[in-house]
Formats: sequence, C-alpha cells, structure tokens
Amino acid sequence: MRKFGLIGFPLGHSFSKKYFTAKFERENIQGCRFDLYEIPKIGDFEDVLKENPELEGIAVTIPYKQQVIPFLDTLDSACKVIGAVNCIKIKNQKLTGYNTDYIGFKHSLEIWIGNHKPKALVLGTGGASKAVMQALKDLGIQYLSVSRSPSGNQISYQDLKENPSILKQHHLIINSTPLGTYPKVEGMPDIPIDQLTSKHLIYDLVYNPSETTLMKACINAGGKSKNGQDMLELQAEAAWKIWNE
Ligand SMILES: NC(=O)c1ccc[n+]([C@@H]2O[C@H](COP(=O)([O-])OP(=O)(O)OC[C@H]3O[C@@H](n4cnc5c(N)ncnc54)[C@H](OP(=O)(O)O)[C@@H]3O)[C@@H](O)[C@H]2O)c1
Repeated sequence: MRKFGLIGFPLGHSFSKKYFTAKFERENIQGCRFDLYEIPKIGDFEDVLKENPELEGIAVTIPYKQQVIPFLDTLDSACKVIGAVNCIKIKNQKLTGYNTDYIGFKHSLEIWIGNHKPKALVLGTGGASKAVMQALKDLGIQYLSVSRSPSGNQISYQDLKENPSILKQHHLIINSTPLGTYPKVEGMPDIPIDQLTSKHLIYDLVYNPSETTLMKACINAGGKSKNGQDMLELQAEAAWKIWNE
C-alpha cells in the first residue's frame, strides 16, 4: 500500500483527504491511501514517520509549514527562498521539502489576470504570504506587504487608512490571512473598504466560504473577486506530480 497524508493541527475538515480519496476513486488509482495525522506538536512528526514506513508523500498545513523544515534532508530551490514547506516527498528514506502553494497561486493568478500586472498588496505575513510574494516577484508584479505589526518595508492597516493613495495605486489585493474563514465568516482584514473601486481585484486565499465578506465588499464596489479554490486544487495536483516523479 502506498501511503500519503497530511500533518497539521487541528485538522477538522481537511480538503486534501477528500480531494485525494476522490481522485484515487475517480481515476481508478489502486493501492493508495491518504490519511490525516493530527499532531499537537511538531516533535510528533518523527513518530508519524516511524509508525508509517510506507509513507511516500506528506502535505503540511498550519501551523507546521515553517517548523517542519529542520526535519527535512533537502529543500527544493523555490522552497529555500520562500522558507515554508507544504509538501514533502519521501524517497529512499530521504525527505525533500517543496512549496506547492507557490505553484498553485502563481498558476491560478496567471489564468485570472493574464498579462495585466497591477501593483499588489499582500495581507498577512505567514507561510502562505511567502509563497504569494515569491510568485508575484517571479511574475514581475510589484507589491507591498501589510501586517498588524509591520517591520522593515512592511506597512500597517493604519497606513492604508491614512494614505488613500496606496489603494489608488495598488489594485490587486491578496488576502493571505485566515480572516473570513468558516465558521467566523463575518471576519475580514481591516482594510478601508470604502476606498475599493471597480478597478480593484481581491484574490482571497480563503476557499470556505466560496465568497468571503472581503470578496463581497469588492464586488459591491464594482470590482472583481476570486477565492482560493483553484489554488487549492492546483497545489494538490502539483503535490501528486511531485510524489510520482
Ligand atoms: N487556497 C489555498 O490553496 C491556500 C493555501 C495556503 C493557505 N491558504 C489560506 O491562507 C490563509 C493563511 O495561511 P497561512 O498558512 O499563511 O496562515 P498563518 O501562518 O496563520 O498566517 C496568517 C497571517 O495572517 C495574519 N493574521 C493572522 N490572524 C490574523 C488576525 N486575526 N487578524 C489579522 N491578521 C491576522 C498574520 O500576519 P500579521 O501578524 O503580519 O498581520 C499571520 O502571519 C489561511 O486561511 C489558509 O487556509 C489557502
């Protein structure tokens, strides 16, 4: 039996398990299973590996995308720059880390905006934002990083409120915070939504619900919105490709 799985905490309703179980069935992929490994601390990852020697591929989610790095033997080059891992391939007992969020986000953004290169704001500074920022760099899109506690070149949510020129010049806004995710669907990043216009594009990494409060605010202003579903599916397919290369 070829084993695949997901580590994270908590793992309430996992997209990956549903996606891969359905994929194995739909595509008649025999002898494979995908399991959830809900580990309260990253140190427990070693026990998962010991107890499941058949594991060939592991997806990594919150809160371990950065914490898992010391447990790996090698990092893929894009992953080194991003500093976060969401996919591990195990071959000959060697663990290699990859970042398929980067692949999924970049590909889905290219499909959505084509050759248009609006300046961007990236909300949140966690693991997902690092993949987003690297993809923007590689696509030649300028961006500003927005944080609740800015450091270096980052700006604050207060800066957006006090300087309307920022939203006037940055038409692509990427939500890489968890705000708006089910069940707290009313939540949204603290950006001045009264400054949104028909030129704005919200790319929300959140995929449940399919239309977040932030996305609705942009659509109400005449702009366009996209959720994280395509990114999610593209990153899962990228992981499957890596595990089978
Ligand atoms: N669609 C996809 O395929 C896909 C892939 C990856 C992730 N995601 C989603 O993207 C989101 C972020 O993932 P992540 O792994 O980067 O999460 P994370 O490590 O928890 O980081 C999220 C960042 O958001 C900001 N943040 C967190 N809580 C906040 C709050 N209450 N108010 C304002 N800002 C807050 C923080 O930045 P500051 O402290 O700097 O403000 C934090 O670093 C999650 O919802 C995840 O499900 C989707």
